Amino acid sequence: MEKKTWRDIVKKKGKEKITVLTAYDYPTSRLMARTELDAILVGDSGGMNVLGYESTLNVSMEDMETFVRAVARARPPQLVIADMPFLSYEISQEKALENAGRLVRDGANAVKLEGGREMVDIVSALVKAGIPVMGHIGLTPQRFLRIGGYRTMGANVEELIEDAKALERAGVFAVVLENVYAESAEEVTKAIGVPTICIGARLWCDGQVLVIHDILGLSEIRPYFSKVYRNVGEIIESAVRDYVKEVKEGTFPSRENYKRKDK
Ligand code: KIV
Repeated sequence: MEKKTWRDIVKKKGKEKITVLTAYDYPTSRLMARTELDAILVGDSGGMNVLGYESTLNVSMEDMETFVRAVARARPPQLVIADMPFLSYEISQEKALENAGRLVRDGANAVKLEGGREMVDIVSALVKAGIPVMGHIGLTPQRFLRIGGYRTMGANVEELIEDAKALERAGVFAVVLENVYAESAEEVTKAIGVPTICIGARLWCDGQVLVIHDILGLSEIRPYFSKVYRNVGEIIESAVRDYVKEVKEGTFPSRENYKRKDK
């Protein structure tokens, strides 16, 4: 499969739904590489799903670099988008450029950062330096303290459209809409020329993104809008129970497991 670029994502707007999932490690990326998925988001949600942090505020550049390198090592044909972690881009354009550059050198093909109008100078600087950027508005989890929790956003649709348009002017190739009212997501999708990729914002978007641990039944808390496609969590638990049982009762290892050596 040919390597996808941000242009392939943009071209799908209004024609074909865009599919995005998170991944944080090599085996998941290797498996995703065999599918028709459009893009892999190395999300800072890996902080909770893989590292056990309480929120994305604890995720460091070093954490993100480890995730990005592991995902990139599988050489997936999908566009690999890396989240810029909390305070890795807000402080100054220089800091944002330096940190986005680190993620690109680690193997990311684009970066994502949270925020609307207030982020346009940062987005422009990254785009000018040749780094494709994805925006993220609506519920921005890195700001949950200021927001006062993880709430549905976008009641003021004009503000949301303003943010999306400002990001588009600054050069983003797509915008994530997280946890916004369905009607607002639909209006933003109609108002901008780049794709909207939604999570928890219903159907009227150009694409969807979900967290891989949620769809595999591996996360501790699954958002109400997600769906368990296969319960790998249950499979792991029962495999571990079977292994413990067989070792204790002496049925593993058996001759069967050593067949090739016995020949
Ligand atoms: O980190 C993440 O998983 C995300 C998605 C929720 C969009 O940013």
